[in-house]
Amino acid sequence: MDGNGRWAKQRGQIRVQGHLAGMEALREIVRHSQRLGVKYLTVYAFSTENWKRPADEVAGIFKLLVRYVKSELKELNENNVHVQILGDWDNAAIPEDSKESINLVLKTTEKNDGLVFSIALNYGGRAEIVKAVNEIIKSGVQNVSESDISSHLYTAGMPDPDVIIRTSGENRLSNFLIWQAAYSEIVLTDTYWPDFTPDVYEQCIVEYQGRDRRFGGHK
Ligand code: FPP
Repeated sequence: MDGNGRWAKQRGQIRVQGHLAGMEALREIVRHSQRLGVKYLTVYAFSTENWKRPADEVAGIFKLLVRYVKSELKELNENNVHVQILGDWDNAAIPEDSKESINLVLKTTEKNDGLVFSIALNYGGRAEIVKAVNEIIKSGVQNVSESDISSHLYTAGMPDPDVIIRTSGENRLSNFLIWQAAYSEIVLTDTYWPDFTPDVYEQCIVEYQGRDRRFGGHK
């Protein structure tokens, strides 16, 4: 969900206002994913590297998570959305009220079998792979397979992403789902996340639908 800071700066606002506008964009994208029949939607909300940001911005992002859960939980649950968190969210650095909101949303939606909406929070792709490898070592497996790794990632049991949409004109994965993205299509848009409307989302999906996916083989 990149570009919140630049969106705010363009308007002479502080960065947290950009994240607030980003949260509003997210609400619409979750709703639109359901209309489109998307089965898995994963958003990158906070990376393991985002701790380098000023404390007030970090605090603001976690407050927005609390606010999001407060305002959206009822609708998410009524719509059968299953919320998951990918990343080290039960971490001492994460504010208590955010952890309470996470626990609440996970518990409330755990039996839902509609859209799987995953929020990557305190998430890093490399840290995720290291965690998986350490778990495998502990389990005593000698000969590690790809499926051993996949089944120890936060995304265990989920399909790899068909498409990764990067907003705000950046051209990199930034440690997002780096194992899972091996054959994902990457769609880039210059749109800043707060301006990422359902229309822009659909344009990105149409671009993805035009791609020729061969997974290393021939057609
Ligand atoms: C990246 O844009 C955005 C973030 C690091 C935070 C995203 C958080 C939200 C949208 C808040 C709501 C979250 C949830 C899960 C409800 P940036 O700040 O790097 O933008 P820039 O590159 O323009 O500076």
